[in-house]
Amino acid sequence: MKSTLKICCLGAGYVGGPTMAMIAAKCPNIQVTVVDPNAARIAEWNSDELPIYEPGLYEIVRESRGRNLFFSTDVDGGIRDAEIIFVCVGTPTKKQGIGAGRAADLRYVESAARRIAAIAEGPKIIVEKSTIPVKTAEAIMTILRANSKSGQFQVLSNPEFLAEGTAVEDLLCPDRVLIGGEETEGGAAAVQKLASIYARWIPAERILTTNLWSSELSKLVANAFLAQRISSINSISALCEATGADVDEVGNAIGKDSRIGPKFLKASVGFGGSCFQKDILNLAYLCQHFGLPEVSAYWESVVKINDWQKHRFAERIVRELFNTVTGKRIAILGFAFKKDTNDTRETAAVSVCQDLLAEGAEVVVYDPKVREHDIRQDVLGKGANDNLLIAGSAAEAAAGAHAIAILTEWDEFKSLPFAQLFENMPKPACIFDGRNILPHADLREIGFRVFPIGKAHKISGHK
Ligand code: UDX
Repeated sequence: MKSTLKICCLGAGYVGGPTMAMIAAKCPNIQVTVVDPNAARIAEWNSDELPIYEPGLYEIVRESRGRNLFFSTDVDGGIRDAEIIFVCVGTPTKKQGIGAGRAADLRYVESAARRIAAIAEGPKIIVEKSTIPVKTAEAIMTILRANSKSGQFQVLSNPEFLAEGTAVEDLLCPDRVLIGGEETEGGAAAVQKLASIYARWIPAERILTTNLWSSELSKLVANAFLAQRISSINSISALCEATGADVDEVGNAIGKDSRIGPKFLKASVGFGGSCFQKDILNLAYLCQHFGLPEVSAYWESVVKINDWQKHRFAERIVRELFNTVTGKRIAILGFAFKKDTNDTRETAAVSVCQDLLAEGAEVVVYDPKVREHDIRQDVLGKGANDNLLIAGSAAEAAAGAHAIAILTEWDEFKSLPFAQLFENMPKPACIFDGRNILPHADLREIGFRVFPIGKAHKISGHK
């Protein structure tokens, strides 16, 4: 089939790679090129071992790669050839200066805009997909128009709502696609052009078009609302532990109210991931900036509860191990911020491991997908600590451990040979279920002391 349209994506990360793979798979006559100056990352995208793990992703990449999907380090070439340029570069939280720890660091977005301005000739549609604070499209537009001699630009906001671990599914059947554009004739035409690409596989009623600012803000607000639900149920988990209510029963009961709904009410050791914390801090910063300190404080409290929940989990381990874990081995099962991903950004496991190491525990981590190097880097940074060990299996981690703590809800943890693990642990053997996925009654039957999230401690069947 002859290529009619060329698309380029700046940034071969979690958003750019899967999104472009899906467009390429669904639109064989569109040529899609993902560019990134990071040669190692591009080489991985061109190999059989993709840099990110997502169920189904390899299959769709393999289907289109070399046909109409390309991964390249030629950033300038990609920009020059494409009619539509997606900006999928990172927007981490600022580490220094004004807004440090809260505001988004837009240096990669800005340098992408400057590069596009320097290279582009003729009309281009720039699509911002990175999560960025409201009014960034305006900044991109200003940079483009001030620096380009012959480019004509339309900037669209098209935030990505995919969740990790279900990226392919989410891209295939999204709840909605949101496209924001300038309220001008040119803006409307650009919006329609992008909408027509998605319309190849997404029903028209799920493709929403808005003005630029609504689209940008909606992304932050969607993540803030989702995270708020988790912090809300996590705050209640503490009350449940104190009172004897069961947080799963409470979540189930309130979720039956169709106004509340059942999703995102699972209490946990704390939410992680690249988006929630970053987007809330960003939202809070925006509110502060626009003179709304009360609104800012309201959203910031969602992050505060999350931090508190992570520390609370580690504190409970220490408390239940008779107020000291010094020299005690503790098996941490799961390090990724959720199952089916190797991503560890903002994972609760980092905070829990650090707290336990600070108490002098020997912390043994096992995760089926996260690499040893990443675990060490995340927990220790450039430092070293002989008390941090990495195991090749759950059984290896648990052998000789005083406690097992479940931090990620990997399916394989649900059916571990717990009776065998119990045999190899000093007594009393404890399990702290930070995801409430284990068969608690069975574990008590075996003899474990079991501490789920949001449930009062019950005495074991025997021992
Ligand atoms: C999130 C949004 O869901 C997605 O729309 C957005 O595009 C990016 O941010 P993601 O970070 O991939 O996606 O994961 P998500 O499934 O939302 O989970 C985030 C965190 O919340 C995880 O740590 C997860 O374990 C935790 N979580 C989720 C809970 O603790 N309880 C829940 O009920 C749901």
